[in-house]
Amino acid sequence: MYDNWEALESACRACQGCDLAQSRTNLVFGVGNPNAKILFIGEGPGEQEDLKGEPFVGRSGQLLDKYLAAIDLDRHKNIYIANIVKCRPPHNRDPLPEEQEHCIGWLRNQTALLRPKILVCLGRIAAQRIIDPKLRITREHGQWSEYHGVWRMATLHPAALLRDPRKKEGAFADFLSLRDKIQELGIEI
Ligand code: URA
Repeated sequence: MYDNWEALESACRACQGCDLAQSRTNLVFGVGNPNAKILFIGEGPGEQEDLKGEPFVGRSGQLLDKYLAAIDLDRHKNIYIANIVKCRPPHNRDPLPEEQEHCIGWLRNQTALLRPKILVCLGRIAAQRIIDPKLRITREHGQWSEYHGVWRMATLHPAALLRDPRKKEGAFADFLSLRDKIQELGIEI
């Protein structure tokens, strides 16, 4: 465990913990305000993220930014965004359980330093890893649970919304519910 952000980030950037390190262009550590009280967790970098070294910068990232802006959230101001795995899985396949296992310590350390009051999982992979291995994202998105004083919710992955725009309404409702939760908890954004 690293007790400060800079040490954590530089150790993470040097990671060779699994095979994904061999094929990465850039490690994608995360983006946002390290004092934010709201942490968004995605699955892993895609092609654009690998090229730029920042999470959610492709088409799904643009959609995410729109949903965030609708509830006055901004990746550079009042939230932090990180992924379960920090390096791109080849051909955008799901990260393997052993890759997740190797990498999750970085996210745990990020979470320990941030001490978020709210965790939002983007998509099934993050939701099953963080909230409940049996979570059914299509049925259970938008549902809140509290664990050790941290409120957690999963929403649909923005890439799933691009594939099937009929899901957008439900996902947007999750963001409105997030806005309500921020108010309810008195989090300053
Ligand atoms: N999808 C994710 O889950 N994370 C990213 O950073 C980009 C796309």
